[in-house]
Amino acid sequence: MSELPREQWGSRLGFILAAVGSAVGLGNMWRFSYLAAENGGAAFLVLYIAMVALVGLPVMLAEFVIGRGSGRSPMQALAHFGGNGWRPLGGLFIASGFVILAYYSVIAGWTLRYAIEGAVAGFGGDAEATFGAVASGTPAILWHLVFMAITVFVVAGGVKKGIERTALILMPLLFAIVIGLAIYASTLDGAGAGYTYYFDTSFAEILSADVLKDAAGQAFFSLSLGMGAMLTFASYLSRENHLPNESVFIAGSDFAVAFIAGLVVFPMVFAFGLGDAVSGSTVGALFITLPTAFSEMGGAGRVVGFMFFASLVVGALTSAISLLEVVVSSAVDGLGWGRRSAAIVAGCAIAALGIPAAWNTDILGLMDQIAGNFFLVAGGLALSVFTGWIMTEAMEEAGVGAPGVRWFGLWRGLLRFVVPVILSFVLYHTAVDTWKAIAGFIR
Ligand code: PHE
Repeated sequence: MSELPREQWGSRLGFILAAVGSAVGLGNMWRFSYLAAENGGAAFLVLYIAMVALVGLPVMLAEFVIGRGSGRSPMQALAHFGGNGWRPLGGLFIASGFVILAYYSVIAGWTLRYAIEGAVAGFGGDAEATFGAVASGTPAILWHLVFMAITVFVVAGGVKKGIERTALILMPLLFAIVIGLAIYASTLDGAGAGYTYYFDTSFAEILSADVLKDAAGQAFFSLSLGMGAMLTFASYLSRENHLPNESVFIAGSDFAVAFIAGLVVFPMVFAFGLGDAVSGSTVGALFITLPTAFSEMGGAGRVVGFMFFASLVVGALTSAISLLEVVVSSAVDGLGWGRRSAAIVAGCAIAALGIPAAWNTDILGLMDQIAGNFFLVAGGLALSVFTGWIMTEAMEEAGVGAPGVRWFGLWRGLLRFVVPVILSFVLYHTAVDTWKAIAGFIR
């Protein structure tokens, strides 16, 4: 156990932007647009908002309460409030951080390369062939390693000097770019078709188990829940923070960025008649269709394309930082390692695990299904049971720094009954999908 006093955030804004930075990432810009397109546009939006409010927010507050209340990384935090029997759940969180960061960094590496090459040489040529070259073999591995090195560098710098400073600089920039891009997109001829597609509602579709599963899974992934990232960030908080307010603000910002990203992607894609390609594949919308749109925009396309991919890199970096921090803080607290060595060792191990994903996008997809979907939902379910039923101090802890909040009883009711019921249903369907994905892969 390390005896040094625990690091703390330098300011309230620093913590909030770091948490928003964790939430806002590839999930908002890439997964969200695709899922909204697949699952009935506005109808998916409505269901997604419901999932964020009913499941996401209660679990986020639970992670904050456990993290701040214990001042420890996940394994020790769970043992602190629930006894040693809960340690393995912390182990699952560390495993999630490991696997998610391994493939997340691969996609971030492609994005980094698109941003840099787009700025230098523009977005011409055969978009599909370009993507094929970016997303396979040695180049994909190299860019993944570059991205991991940047992530390690930030995390090694510490909570205040590395993570917080990066978020304070990059997050406002990201907001500005995304809003600017949405305004630009609205000026394109033919943008209307994109809005129609985005907001076209077919409410019949949201009643299916599949859409519910996608909405809940996306809520967890996008809000960085179910693997202790928010828990770990909250462990560096002082006891003055108003956790319910912070949760609402963070979830709201995350949704806003996802929503605005849709206002960027759909008008751009439809203005250039590329609508058919959008729902084709998860990867397609972002890495093939959009560069095609950028190349057809002429001179502006280079700037717009660079801005778009740069904002993705920024979002991916601040999310990757939080994924690595779960592993690093666990090594620091549990093994007594120094932060810098923990960041380097964990970073190298995760980078190695990402190499197969960089080599082969099928492996990447499988890792996303297992860790990005299944582990997160399982972790969220366990967290809601833990906070609702096991952690007797939960209500009291939530009230520290937030006196007079009336709905803590509602919060606990959601954690005890509503969240477990919804997540059990979702977990079952996700398990079936995961099993099929594994079986399909082996065959
Ligand atoms: N929330 C991030 C995104 O949307 C991904 C992430 C998941 C980050 C889990 C941390 C923990 O891209």
